[in-house]
Amino acid sequence: MTTEQITGKPRWLATCPRETRDVLVGELAGLGVEAITPLHRGVAFAADLATGYRAHLWLRTASRIQRVVAEVPAGSVAELAQQVQRIDWTLWLRKHRPFMVQTILTDRAGQGLGQGPVADAVAQAVMSRFALGSVPPVPTPGSVAQTHGSVAPAAGSETPGRTSGGGGPAYRPQAQNAVTIVAHLRNGVCTLGLDTAGRALHKRGWRLNGHPAVLKETLAAALLLLAGYEGTEPLLDPMCGSGTIIIEAAYIALNKAVLIHRGKDDFALEHLAGFDRGLWRKVADELRAGKRIEPRAPLFAGDIRPEYVDLARRGALRARVEKYITFRTGAFKALAPPADHGLLVANLPHGQRLGQGELPGIYAGVGRMIRERYARWRVALLAAADGPIPALGLRGARQVPLMNGALPVRLVIRD
Ligand SMILES: C[S@@+](CC[C@H](N)C(=O)[O-])C[C@H]1O[C@@H](n2cnc3c(N)ncnc32)[C@H](O)[C@@H]1O
Repeated sequence: MTTEQITGKPRWLATCPRETRDVLVGELAGLGVEAITPLHRGVAFAADLATGYRAHLWLRTASRIQRVVAEVPAGSVAELAQQVQRIDWTLWLRKHRPFMVQTILTDRAGQGLGQGPVADAVAQAVMSRFALGSVPPVPTPGSVAQTHGSVAPAAGSETPGRTSGGGGPAYRPQAQNAVTIVAHLRNGVCTLGLDTAGRALHKRGWRLNGHPAVLKETLAAALLLLAGYEGTEPLLDPMCGSGTIIIEAAYIALNKAVLIHRGKDDFALEHLAGFDRGLWRKVADELRAGKRIEPRAPLFAGDIRPEYVDLARRGALRARVEKYITFRTGAFKALAPPADHGLLVANLPHGQRLGQGELPGIYAGVGRMIRERYARWRVALLAAADGPIPALGLRGARQVPLMNGALPVRLVIRD
């Protein structure tokens, strides 16, 4: 029995870095989804269409989302092709929207089949299925191998590709507007999913260029959630850079969906067959209605460099949260605590641009400031794993290992 058969609900897969998976699990539990199953770099779950749609607009720490189409045996390329052809793709893909295939081969057996042959087999089987129409075909071993390579290139296509010949979608791996079928092979089983995010979900739409060391929005949100931030205590980021943390914090404090400002047709799911525009609008309207008029606690941000404060302010304006944040320019040590308690969050300089020699002094200064002036504050500092964390002198603090892109980092939390 599959999860969908058990719960009767569509199945989804949200991807994320392994280190922040538990945070994503918590977010999904908060949305009320079912059958939450942590995977290596993601979380599978079951949810009705409305909740699945809500997840796209709401999840702060998911990288991408897939709608799971099927799990099929795939001991060989031929078996995979045969199984893929049994799926009624007319229920999933629109005829005029090209598609591509992304393969994830996680074990030796899967890798042995080869990225190219797997992608090609899936693509051919999908196109063959469209040629057959929506009547379930009676698969015969090797039936796909016979059609393989016999399909003509798409007439007038801007990018190399093939059409189904049956009026179905073209296979155009390079096309900008293609929807993506994800074929994930492991243990002789292929999980087929459709990428429903389109652009990666960390791309909230407000970011401006101008800072050399920005955090991904999804990581900034994860830091806040790992630190237990719920928007009910004052929040300060005294080294805000482009403002990623403070803007994500404002969204939490306002109970605001992170992707509510994405434009129409921006999510890939809007281009799949069966997309319910009316339901999508209803879900978005409900999320808008759930946004607070004001945050429950104040938000403060600063940076030593005026151009970064300006950048953060402009980013916040684009994110439509600028009016809720108090910005200031200046060194951390020149800043009086803006409240008598709260959560101080900062992404400390990592040293690549400063030179490692300066870091211990900077960290020691930050630690001294926290001990002297922020004794009643909770603290969450993101620092390079090989940075001078002991120089902070935060006794009793715990460390959560994370990755900032390719850089191993630690979130140092003092509750
Ligand atoms: C790693 S960056 C923060 C990046 C930020 N999280 C983002 O996503 O854009 C560290 C920031 O600390 C600022 N900074 C360094 N020393 C500072 C100090 N003593 N007081 C305030 N800000 C400082 C830098 O100007 C820089 O923007």
